[in-house]
Amino acid sequence: MDKVKEIYCRIYQTTLRTALPFLPYRNPKILHSVTEIPGVLIEKGLKRPLLVTDRSIRELGLTKRLEEVLEENGEPAFVYDGTKQNPTTQMVMEALKIYRDNGCDCIISFGGGSPMDCAKGVGACVARPKKPLKRMAGILKIGRKLPLLIAVPTTAGTGSETTLAAVIVDGETRHKYVINDFPLIPSYAVLDPSVISMLPSSIAAATGMDALTHAVEAYIGRSTTRYTRGEAKKAVRAVFHDIEDAAAHRSLRAEKGMLIAAHRAGRAFTRSYVGYIHAVSHSLSGKYNMPHGRTNAILLPIVLEMYGPKVHQKLAELAVCAGLGKMSEGREALAEKFIAAIYELNERLGIPRKIEGIEEEDIDVLAAYADREANPLYPVPILWDREELKEIYRKARG
Ligand SMILES: [Fe+2]
Repeated sequence: MDKVKEIYCRIYQTTLRTALPFLPYRNPKILHSVTEIPGVLIEKGLKRPLLVTDRSIRELGLTKRLEEVLEENGEPAFVYDGTKQNPTTQMVMEALKIYRDNGCDCIISFGGGSPMDCAKGVGACVARPKKPLKRMAGILKIGRKLPLLIAVPTTAGTGSETTLAAVIVDGETRHKYVINDFPLIPSYAVLDPSVISMLPSSIAAATGMDALTHAVEAYIGRSTTRYTRGEAKKAVRAVFHDIEDAAAHRSLRAEKGMLIAAHRAGRAFTRSYVGYIHAVSHSLSGKYNMPHGRTNAILLPIVLEMYGPKVHQKLAELAVCAGLGKMSEGREALAEKFIAAIYELNERLGIPRKIEGIEEEDIDVLAAYADREANPLYPVPILWDREELKEIYRKARG
């Protein structure tokens, strides 16, 4: 990256970091079961929830218990179950229509990252009815309170139940854009392991690796605080400890452990940001509809290697956290152990080493999207421009 752009990026990031303690971050209140939701609605005087989910989750019967308890309490849900992976503006509009047609007064998202992003999109449109969703891309473009938003994650990974971000794909251009604003932080997060117990193992594994990516990118970035470093470390420790048992559904304790880990990683990255792994991954899932968690899992060790000595100290600290060694082994050796452990974990979880399907002729545009998303916002350890980012796609290609 040229010097002028580099200085601009670092000044931008330093300004945000300085402002961090004064920004209105909040943590959603935690509920431990979906059966606690009706009580919250009664307490708030709300009666007409929009339930945003996806068809397979609903067909698996995962929303059944929630729909029943809402019905029993006289708060029947109006359901939008058309969310798909990488939700589009069109899906947000469809869900918004149900919200408006039925006079809904609050939103419950039920699912992985996609229904949550879609639900946040609906909330943003309710808050800013005259502003097109696309114009809310970037930071602090909503500025008004959303209807009450309750998030029920059915994957332990995105951390979206605690973040201020919504990721939406423009249905026409396939450009994926991120809306970041404080009103998008849900008011409640329901960490109920009974709703993740039917998740296919491959999805549980990939989303768990997304949580690990959040924790690592937040930790190695330059805008950390004592709080975010602590949350990221706890998340890394728990992912290494619980991901395999949780993905295989061998233990409810491990599943709860992963839900909490993903939530902690969410708390860390919503304050300390992610980095190039996410920027590159978003460009890939926008263009080719690739699953976010799996793409991140593959990119994570590749990008950490490319960062080189600059991140050795931090990776060494995370390696100690993950139980891979002791600080006395030296930071370079520990950093290498940490990267090797991610490759091995991916392998045990059935995640490949390379990403199939990246076309050489697309790399220019993909790198431009990643550059636009990451620079100047993400406080990455080393700044790379569009030309340098192309290297990541080439290294990751199958
Ligand atoms: Fe992510």
